[in-house]
Amino acid sequence: MNNDHFVERVLAWFDQHGRKNLPWQQRPNAYRVWVSEIMLQQTQVATVIDYYQRFMARFPDVQALAAAPVDEVLHLWTGLGYYARARNLHACAKTVVEQHGGEFPATVAELEALPGIGKSTAGAIASLALGQCAPILDGNVKRVLARYFAVPGWPGQSAVQARLWQVAEELTPASRCDNYTQAMMDLGSLVCTRSKPACSLCPLQADCVARLQGNPTDYPGKKPKKDKPVKAVQLLMLRNPAGEWLLEQRPASGIWGGLWSFPELAPEADGRDYCRDVLQAGVTRLQAWSEFRHTFSHYHLDITPLEIEIDSLPAAVGERAVCWYDVHQPPALGLAAPVKLLLHKLRQLEPLL
Ligand code: ADE
Repeated sequence: MNNDHFVERVLAWFDQHGRKNLPWQQRPNAYRVWVSEIMLQQTQVATVIDYYQRFMARFPDVQALAAAPVDEVLHLWTGLGYYARARNLHACAKTVVEQHGGEFPATVAELEALPGIGKSTAGAIASLALGQCAPILDGNVKRVLARYFAVPGWPGQSAVQARLWQVAEELTPASRCDNYTQAMMDLGSLVCTRSKPACSLCPLQADCVARLQGNPTDYPGKKPKKDKPVKAVQLLMLRNPAGEWLLEQRPASGIWGGLWSFPELAPEADGRDYCRDVLQAGVTRLQAWSEFRHTFSHYHLDITPLEIEIDSLPAAVGERAVCWYDVHQPPALGLAAPVKLLLHKLRQLEPLL
């Protein structure tokens, strides 16, 4: 790969289209760039501008910020969200005043050691404010590089992250690093956008591998979905001598809140014991149906239905509201989805005589 050609195109694009009039780009210094970078971490440029200007009017330098009560900092942050950023900002200002004599340190390594400053923010301060050659890798730049090189995988994985840092470092130019840094951020946020990249406007379109493959939005790779945990339960389909099925109302909170369901039993528990001990009824027939899976947003529930005929109306059922459900004359009740399915099967198995 020809790095110079990449950088030349990015800088030529910056000269025409890059952002040059943002407030933190006027008289940039470490303090001003640092505050803007922290504000921009989870927030759009358009939102940040007013907050930034109010913040600078009240705290024009790191001494002013360090001397302020944290409540005042939080007050000026109100509406920006992610308030840990504001607390860290204040803590960092105090560290700069107390341990660095009120001057931001001038190396990436020392900047990175300050509270709330990661490697990419340190690189942005070094390049944008201190005229150094330092790479950055924020979310926008990750997207541009992952697409241009078709780097597979999710950047939350350390190997993917390391690969992206490697190409970011190789590409970062020795001259005009400030413009290059700003250009890569702007390219990511204005052109190489997450879901609808404007490839036809991109200076890198001719050799962007993801574009050539035809799948730029497949990069960067998505966070792998966690496997859901599996729980198991037995649902007791209890039939009384009149042919009705016992339903209980679920507690208002938790799964199937307030809906009606069959009594539940732990997977290892014995349905006969339940009938004897809880219902004080005898069992005339018991049949386990095959297990099936019901999936919630956070877990899978493997359900084993147990069909049980009891020989008498139970003396007591438990704490919950109960009803005896006639599948041929169903009352209007809110039913848990798998319960509705099971009642439907029970009705099919037992047609009206
Ligand atoms: N996002 C983070 N830093 C930025 C900057 N300096 N300009 C535009 N967007 C940014």
